[in-house]
Amino acid sequence: MNPNLSHLHRYPFEKLAQLKAGCLPPDNLEPISLSIGEPKHPAPDFALQAMIDNLSGLASYPLTKGSILLREAINNWLVQRFKLNSENIDPEKNILPVNGTREALFAIAQTIIDTTTDNPLVMMPNPFYQIYEGAAILAGAEPYYLNTTGDNHFLPDFDGVSSKNWQRCQLLYICSPGNPTGRVMPKEMLMHLIELADKFDFTIVSDECYSELYFDESQPPVGLLEAAESIGNTTYKNCLVFHSLSKRSNLPGLRSGFVAGDADIIQQFFRYRTYHGCAMPPHHQAASIAAWSDEQHVLTNRNQYREKFDIVLDILKDVIEVERPDASFYLWPKTPIDDELFCKGLYAQQNVTVLPGKYLSRDSADINPGTNRVRLALVAELEQCRIAAQRIREFIEIS
Ligand SMILES: Cc1ncc(COP(=O)(O)O)c(C=O)c1O
Repeated sequence: MNPNLSHLHRYPFEKLAQLKAGCLPPDNLEPISLSIGEPKHPAPDFALQAMIDNLSGLASYPLTKGSILLREAINNWLVQRFKLNSENIDPEKNILPVNGTREALFAIAQTIIDTTTDNPLVMMPNPFYQIYEGAAILAGAEPYYLNTTGDNHFLPDFDGVSSKNWQRCQLLYICSPGNPTGRVMPKEMLMHLIELADKFDFTIVSDECYSELYFDESQPPVGLLEAAESIGNTTYKNCLVFHSLSKRSNLPGLRSGFVAGDADIIQQFFRYRTYHGCAMPPHHQAASIAAWSDEQHVLTNRNQYREKFDIVLDILKDVIEVERPDASFYLWPKTPIDDELFCKGLYAQQNVTVLPGKYLSRDSADINPGTNRVRLALVAELEQCRIAAQRIREFIEIS
């Protein structure tokens, strides 16, 4: 067996199931889950219809590259959303569809990491989406965690990384808006990272799958490709962005996203993926074209999240330390007691499931940035989110 398999950590939801095992929540309270980041708003009808209308595509093998129509739809979306110069981006060279960003965030590390060099590092935020860590480990690299805490406003301290470690770094994962913090990286920070990537020759993988769930319509989160253009990196050298329809369009089951950026890396990633065998089914491509070509349903989606954040924050704000994030559908409050005890007690007394912060983070020399925090995913229906918030409030007031 691959010895690196034994270095993988248990997944957060496995730990959560174990934490809840043996608890008997009151059966007069309906269960409410805010633990999994799975959107529950309805998927757009027109995307489902596009899928139904294209089932005949099942009779042929799809291309790993995806159809040119899909790559053009993605290209148009990227240009419009991030105000890219259309001269710089080419659907033939800079874009690859992927079957959800999860598999692609994993596969990119297998493509990039060169284990013939000494001790390659893969840097990532801490707390983080656990795929980054598993991808690094299975690619034979060492994960290097960059803490994001209230003290640093949930932005990693890149200037605190030594030159020696930057030299070892082959891949840097960033997540903006962040899961679980909801923090958006400022453009200046992205620009600085692109300069560091150039200096130390590493790839930036920017996970932007929450970029469309924001509050201020006049200020959508900035992306890595637009930051690259701002400093004259018009080939997006060392830069890759990962986007998904799962959160933007409530289509997590479609498994549809894309990677875009540096044409040389995309070319190698395409090569890897040809062997990996992960072409997107044709009817999923048709639904994806429909979804990337419409903004109205995304606006409706944002409005629904805004309403939930307003209601939940209003209920919780004076019993727990909690802030509205820049973007995403997560709250990341501080707990008055240990996060695991908080989750267990909340489940046992109120039948509400949330995720302990330390299941999303690792110990560092001095702290674990997930300790005494919990992640609440405001994915349930509005009324359920309101009830969950009231129960959390009651739990805190009684405890
Ligand atoms: C930060 C982050 N990145 C990527 C993903 C994967 O999304 P998908 O594979 O559905 O595109 C998730 C899913 O929860 C996530 O939270």
